[in-house]
Amino acid sequence: MIPMQISQRKPFLWINPKRDPEVSLDTAPMAQARADWQAFEPLLERLFGTGVIDSALKAFADWSPEAKAMLLKLDSALPVAGSIKARGGFFEVLSHARELALAEGILQPTDELSRLADRLDYFENYSLHVASTGNLGLSIGLMGRALGFSVYVHMSADAKEWKKQLLRSRGASVVEYDGDYSLAVREGRLASQQDPKAYFVDDERSLRLFWGYSKAAYDLLAQLPEGISKQTPLFVTIPCGVGGAPGGIAYGLKALLGEAVHVFFAEPIEAPAVLLGMASGKGEAIKVQDVGLSGLTLADGLAVGKPSEFVCRQMGPVLSGIYTITDEALQAMQYRLHDKDGIKCEPSACAGLFLPQFLRTEPGRAYLKAHQLSPEDIYHVAWATGGDRVPTPLYDEQLQAGRAVLERRPDIFEIED
Ligand SMILES: Cc1ncc(COP(=O)(O)O)c(C=O)c1O
Repeated sequence: MIPMQISQRKPFLWINPKRDPEVSLDTAPMAQARADWQAFEPLLERLFGTGVIDSALKAFADWSPEAKAMLLKLDSALPVAGSIKARGGFFEVLSHARELALAEGILQPTDELSRLADRLDYFENYSLHVASTGNLGLSIGLMGRALGFSVYVHMSADAKEWKKQLLRSRGASVVEYDGDYSLAVREGRLASQQDPKAYFVDDERSLRLFWGYSKAAYDLLAQLPEGISKQTPLFVTIPCGVGGAPGGIAYGLKALLGEAVHVFFAEPIEAPAVLLGMASGKGEAIKVQDVGLSGLTLADGLAVGKPSEFVCRQMGPVLSGIYTITDEALQAMQYRLHDKDGIKCEPSACAGLFLPQFLRTEPGRAYLKAHQLSPEDIYHVAWATGGDRVPTPLYDEQLQAGRAVLERRPDIFEIED
């Protein structure tokens, strides 16, 4: 069933009726991904001077005083690429490079992977293609070029100019489309099929991306305060575009923490692709334009009209719910984060901060009641998914816009019940 609030463009919290609190998930692919990430560390160290791709967990002051904690996972400052998409993107490029090098005998199974840094000429004849609203392209471009691949980034009309410029400055080719993200994916897939030495990083379908993201669950686990349990659980909220990054992390958290974690996604009111795919049961067979929405949002990383079918299926038993949020609230939150806590985020990255407000609305209260919880029992983690690399002039403009929203609408953070 499609909730009417979607086409009414009304921010609301959808609770997933298919969630299975006792779902049992296979941890083997996650554990393998974690071991692979560890094996990549010396190579990352040589390429970028930093081996571990993880971020800090920081308290967000005065935001949800009733809760046990309100914490921010600062992937906004993730090393090298400055966004959550590097968790999957780097993992996929490194996995592909290792596979090629082993297949061609450039590397022996017993060799230290960092030896690849001495053979960057080898990857010159191989290309990587990726379609992106921006941050995945940036991740694939930065890692692909550092290893010497030819990189083609197929970018939707929403992609920010500075991301294209940065990619070009590293020698990646940017292919621009006057259309949305789904079009860029289709064209990127086709372009890579023309070249036998090309590899397509498929944001809608890639398992490598998914398991690469899932490692973040181990990273978060190592940082959490003590005391998290079924009775005093963790509520994690992650901004969602096509679904891969939040999906991989949600899977990982659920597999590791079981009933002690509840995971929510956050999407823009004009582009709730995963919400629509999951609530209707149609997955990738429905897009936001089918219900009268534009798919356009200031949150460029979340400007996705059609969800990943794979993620919609995986999230059935896992996800607690999804809320939708306006662009204006994101702008105001971007300013709030900067002003009160000196945290630099892009608009997409601010979407995950509103769960405490949505828990005060009717569906939120009902969800808490059904789980015999009250707001005081909860440890919140909001995933701040990107922003560190936004150029200062653009960031200043965004901050001014956010401040203007707050001045005009001091009640912007309150969600109507
Ligand atoms: C900053 C930011 N947050 C969240 C997301 C959502 O990730 P996904 O599209 O995998 O759902 C993106 C995607 O590009 C992003 O750039």
